[in-house]
Amino acid sequence: MKPFDRSIKIAPSILSADFANFGAECRAIEAQGADWVHVDVMDGHFVPNITFGPAMCAAIRKHIKGVMDVHLMIAPADPYIEAFVKAGADIVTVHAEAGAHLDRSLQLVRSVGARAGVSLNPSTPASALEFVLDRIDLVLVMTVNPGFGGQSFIGSQVEKVRQIRAMIGDRPVHIEIDGGITPETAPLVAAVGADVLVAGSAVFKGGSVETPEVYGRNIAAIRSAAETARRQIAA
Ligand code: DX5
Ligand code: ZN
Repeated sequence: MKPFDRSIKIAPSILSADFANFGAECRAIEAQGADWVHVDVMDGHFVPNITFGPAMCAAIRKHIKGVMDVHLMIAPADPYIEAFVKAGADIVTVHAEAGAHLDRSLQLVRSVGARAGVSLNPSTPASALEFVLDRIDLVLVMTVNPGFGGQSFIGSQVEKVRQIRAMIGDRPVHIEIDGGITPETAPLVAAVGADVLVAGSAVFKGGSVETPEVYGRNIAAIRSAAETARRQIAA
């Protein structure tokens, strides 16, 4: 991974890609400007949907040049963390709500060689992070209830992002936002301190591996809206 910085990064979620063609989809989004590839792992227990596991991550890793950002929506997470790191995850994010021992899960992620992220559901307050801030590389704020792509952005989370940005201070911790990100909602979170924007439907809509330039336009539109919001607050 590149050294830490707070520039805007776009992380397309392959939850909205063609499930029969993940390799080509990953190559296409990276060629079209994706900074990270966001991989949503769901277990049908912590969230009401099932996606894929470590074997799929290992298979797609070969098609990703940059950062593979793995979002675990599974409970328990600990028994599977090492398998996802061995599958090539650069970042492994666990949910604060997924187990009783968040501190232990975060230590485990780092001990097996990945960056550690913690994700908060919309109803979980920022204070859940207070005593793990020095154990993490990333906070993932869910702006939808996890489980499905294509849901609407929950506006109450903007204030939570603002609070988290203040809590982080000068620690090298990314703030990633996931759910309902579009060129319309990206500025709301970019303005209060988010630097990594996950987008599924807003990146893949209208395109395919045969028309990858559509992905490129979609990525550029989200990035430009977020960067404009950043410049306006700096001015
Ligand atoms: C939701 C997933 C998201 C999802 C985002 O549980 O964690 O990453 O794919 O999809 P959009 O951008 O369509 O809301
Ligand atoms: Zn996600």
